Amino acid sequence: MQEAAWRRIVEAVRRVSDTPLGIQLTHAGRRAATVPPRADEIAGPRWARLTAGRLAASALPWDAGSAVPRAATRAELATVAADFAAAAARADRAGFDVLELQYGHGQLLSGFLSPLTNRRTDGYGGPAANRLRFPLEVLAAVREVWPAHKPLVVRISATDWAEGGTTEAETVEICRALAEGGADAVDVSTGEVVSDQRPRYGRSYQTPYADLVRSATGVPVIAVGAISSHDDVNSILLAGRADLCALGRAQLHDPLWTLHAAAEQQYQGPAAPWPPAWAPGSARPPGARADRLPPRLRLLREPAPPVHQRWRPPRPTRPRRPLPLPARRRCPARS
Ligand SMILES: Cc1cc2nc3c(=O)[nH]c(=O)nc-3n(C[C@H](O)[C@H](O)[C@H](O)COP(=O)(O)O)c2cc1C
Repeated sequence: MQEAAWRRIVEAVRRVSDTPLGIQLTHAGRRAATVPPRADEIAGPRWARLTAGRLAASALPWDAGSAVPRAATRAELATVAADFAAAAARADRAGFDVLELQYGHGQLLSGFLSPLTNRRTDGYGGPAANRLRFPLEVLAAVREVWPAHKPLVVRISATDWAEGGTTEAETVEICRALAEGGADAVDVSTGEVVSDQRPRYGRSYQTPYADLVRSATGVPVIAVGAISSHDDVNSILLAGRADLCALGRAQLHDPLWTLHAAAEQQYQGPAAPWPPAWAPGSARPPGARADRLPPRLRLLREPAPPVHQRWRPPRPTRPRRPLPLPARRRCPARS
């Protein structure tokens, strides 16, 4: 059902654009809930009920208000890996060009990678090589069904922004293993792994981690996080800090961000085609600054224009006769 619905969406987009389309697959793990929470119920009993029974690497709740998830059994892990592969095959048949696996942000696969959320004592817990085992099993299952010519990307949280979390050396090790396991690129995000994280936000704040992975491993990386202008994007790419940049909130702020960035740089190549009906908007509209159009507004200190003659209605040649008023009608007497 999902496959058919997505195919219809992909085909609808294809009719107006040849821009590659990507999809992200995830299992939310202990971060799952069946409905979006209201702000006042995140820590309440209803929230605990909504988050109950979720699978996770270990039985550790997200925070004091969440239910304790179940540590997945080996049989459940095998089912999850098979489900990922089946979903990837559906995404391929639906026509997507790029697939991203979510191994970050504290979701199920991320929960295996971080030492803060993976306390398993079987072969899936312990040193980074063990914590990588299940994520690599999922990757192998997906790689088997996802076509070799279509990019397969894995998103990670490069740091947990918390004491005792994944180290930089482990992040490099993880990315190397993901590339060897068939990932074509790593999308380098951070955090959202534990609720008591202390992130250091700022402009392009995650790009240093993309830079780290790229320079240490040579694996193609996507930088993301508080990147908002095409100048930011160009600076990151030209400095060799990433191979691609991803933008989230900037695209929500301006859904035509890509087309606007292309127009501002007079780019007219592939991947940024303006729909024919919008073509007149593909360049910045003429304005006083761009085209040296004479400004219409005058400064008050300029010489005053000739005294303004106020418009008045032309005088009637003959005195107007009052209009005859309609005869007053009497109200019928009430019975
Ligand atoms: C409304 C919203 C929904 C998001 N959903 C997802 C998601 O489903 N998967 C994901 O990996 N990241 C998701 N993110 C995080 C973004 O992909 C991105 O990493 C984050 O917003 C930082 O980039 P930005 O500063 O350009 O927004 C979401 C962000 C927002 C604002």
